[in-house]
Amino acid sequence: TDGFTIAPSILSANFAKLGEEVDNVLVSGADTVHFDVMDNHYVPNLTIGPLVCDALRKHGVTAPIDVHLMVTPVDQLVGDFIKAGASYITFHPEASHHPDRTLSVIKDAGLKAGLVFNPATPLDWLKYAIDKVDIVLLMSVNPGFGGQKFIGYTLDKLREAREIIDKSGRSIRLEIDGGVGPANIREVAQSGADMFVAGSAIFGTPDYKETIDKMRAELAA
Ligand code: DX5
Ligand code: ZN
Repeated sequence: TDGFTIAPSILSANFAKLGEEVDNVLVSGADTVHFDVMDNHYVPNLTIGPLVCDALRKHGVTAPIDVHLMVTPVDQLVGDFIKAGASYITFHPEASHHPDRTLSVIKDAGLKAGLVFNPATPLDWLKYAIDKVDIVLLMSVNPGFGGQKFIGYTLDKLREAREIIDKSGRSIRLEIDGGVGPANIREVAQSGADMFVAGSAIFGTPDYKETIDKMRAELAA
């Protein structure tokens, strides 16, 4: 494909018919399922856990599941999501006492591992552990809720992260999460992102395929 990954955030899906919603975005051209885990502790909201991830696998979902952990502590849930069929696990390094160990646990299980940076969190956490990082996820909103406005200075941060990744010589994905949709995806890609989370911009529209097609057209333009 074009090297761009579109990852709908099921946070904005209708949870009363989640299997159907996930099937629908995947046949509509999504690459990956973005799975937001919130614990009412690290962030002021409560969502879904490993049981739901396992249920999606049993439902027949074969696409990668991109688990975004907004929880503390981190490590117990990492093990649970490995068992539940996660493909990627990203976590906020400041929420883990031992980010290096957490990265190793994820990678030793054969999954892709990622670090997530809140809008104001500096990228310094990448400096030493970058060889264990497969995904750098920049939050372009404060985590906890869908439907928030994209924070503009994240574009500068994307360029900075892109530089760090290119300098590392490793094939690290640069993922962006929060307030992304057809109206700004091109600018976000031009700033260096290649993996795009979109929740309300996709699930808030009646025709998921039309919206995902629009996003791809913007990326190709
Ligand atoms: C926010 C979550 C996001 C959220 C994105 O804490 O990590 O994945 O669902 O939602 P939108 O695309 O609506 O900003
Ligand atoms: Zn997320």
